[in-house]
Amino acid sequence: MPDNLTIVDHPLIQHKLTILRDKTTPTAQFRQVLREVAFVLGCEATKDLKLGNIEIETPIEKMTAPYLEGKKLCFVSILRAGNGLLNGLLDLIPSARVGHVGIYRDHETLEAHRYYYKTPDRLGDRLVILVDPMLATGNTAIDAANELKKAGAKEMKFLCLVAAPEGVEKFSTAHPDIPIITAALDRGLNEKGYIMPGLGDAGDRIYGTKG
Ligand code: URA
Repeated sequence: MPDNLTIVDHPLIQHKLTILRDKTTPTAQFRQVLREVAFVLGCEATKDLKLGNIEIETPIEKMTAPYLEGKKLCFVSILRAGNGLLNGLLDLIPSARVGHVGIYRDHETLEAHRYYYKTPDRLGDRLVILVDPMLATGNTAIDAANELKKAGAKEMKFLCLVAAPEGVEKFSTAHPDIPIITAALDRGLNEKGYIMPGLGDAGDRIYGTKG
């Protein structure tokens, strides 16, 4: 396991992930549980934010209390499934900026094709957290991270729900400086590039576009 990979094995995350994997979970519950999981994964992705101190007064007395030093954040969602993680992340950090990268996978070659890119300015001043529920082949995540670096991003993390060893390997080789945070490292990819056992097509599960 590469040392830039963190698997968040908190019991609540693992319990919720089981609900997400279960094919009988209805769309509305899937979205809600994904939002909850994203909140906790977001805590892990931001655990090294720097704290300063401020003077405040509680109803009892004055105290010096920890306060975020004000590092700016930007979540970047890989469309469309990445959007399923945004609500939970914005519940956690409502002031974060949000970017979108539209990439689809060619179903034959599994290669990434970018069709949309919009992010806030001054990415270099921000912690950029790139999000996509599934790290499968790694091609889309690598392409998105390349583009964000070209736009000036310096400090980045990649947050996903389920990762395949193939994707982790490829992404870590292309971007060894970007930590990966996931709830699970699954067995591998099938011939169609889906993660096994995975949870199916994350976009279809979030938006109810199949079945
Ligand atoms: N994308 C998905 O939505 N699911 C997978 O298993 C792999 C890629």
